[in-house]
Amino acid sequence: MQKTILITGASSGIGKAVALEFAKRDGAKNHLILVARNQAKLEAVASEVKSLGATVSVLLADLGKTADIAKVFTELEKIAPSLDLVFNNAGLGFVKEARLMSDNEVEQIIDVNVKGMILVGKKAAAHMVEQGHGHIIFTSSLAGYTLFPFWSVYCASKWGITAFANVLRQEVAPHGVQVTTVHPGPVQTEFFDPNKADVDLSTTEKTMPAIPASEVAADVYKIAYTDTKRIFNPPKLAMFAEAFRLFPGKMQKMMSKLVEQPEK
Ligand SMILES: NC(=O)c1ccc[n+]([C@@H]2O[C@H](COP(=O)([O-])OP(=O)(O)OC[C@H]3O[C@@H](n4cnc5c(N)ncnc54)[C@H](OP(=O)(O)O)[C@@H]3O)[C@@H](O)[C@H]2O)c1
Repeated sequence: MQKTILITGASSGIGKAVALEFAKRDGAKNHLILVARNQAKLEAVASEVKSLGATVSVLLADLGKTADIAKVFTELEKIAPSLDLVFNNAGLGFVKEARLMSDNEVEQIIDVNVKGMILVGKKAAAHMVEQGHGHIIFTSSLAGYTLFPFWSVYCASKWGITAFANVLRQEVAPHGVQVTTVHPGPVQTEFFDPNKADVDLSTTEKTMPAIPASEVAADVYKIAYTDTKRIFNPPKLAMFAEAFRLFPGKMQKMMSKLVEQPEK
């Protein structure tokens, strides 16, 4: 039987790369359900995925909105018999000091990266516990383990979702459901565009060069349906995260040298 895979934030970047990876590797073995807001971009990803042999459905939803998330799960019940894998990934961020952010920017980050991911995660967990199997993969970030200057709200959102996923894992493990957090460093997507950032990310780029989204997707494919707690992309960032856990003060000081804020 086909496996059903729900991917949020599938219209671009990491979510799109994960959709293409599963389609390329497994073709007709998967029914991929792609979720995001931008219909044109989602349809374009859907037709690429379809051309690789997978079955595909597109669901439009603003994942910052509780009602839209409820609709996604109602629709899922109609179109798929089971839910095998959820790549809970849609998210956003703004690189600037908290005091310079608008209330709306803060709300968008918290609504999508925290509330939206938690609602998708808990609804997927309920579904999977009932069927007795499944895997939920959360896109956290290196910023869900470390502290980057000028990313205060984003770090708060990613630490929050890492905490949620870690506790959810304990709750659902006895029911045959796995939970993994994915912690990428910089990735070449619309999200991490140094030209769009309010601060100078050139030092970050030199120290931690952005990797292609396809590399994250390949890592996600490898750990799908396995009991993996967390992965870092690239894997060497696990050492960096561990150094942060052991020497938080020194590491935070070091991080402040990686990003520069223009005079305001
Ligand atoms: N790129 C990096 O350096 C990096 C590093 C670590 C972690 N991450 C995380 O990776 C995840 C994916 O980001 P990306 O790098 O692939 O960026 P991206 O190319 O900008 O993709 C973001 C995706 O999230 C979707 N999205 C955003 N707001 C949404 C909303 N309100 N409702 C529904 N979908 C929404 C977007 O779709 P629509 O606009 O069509 O709705 C898009 O598909 C995020 O959680 C991000 O925090 C990224």
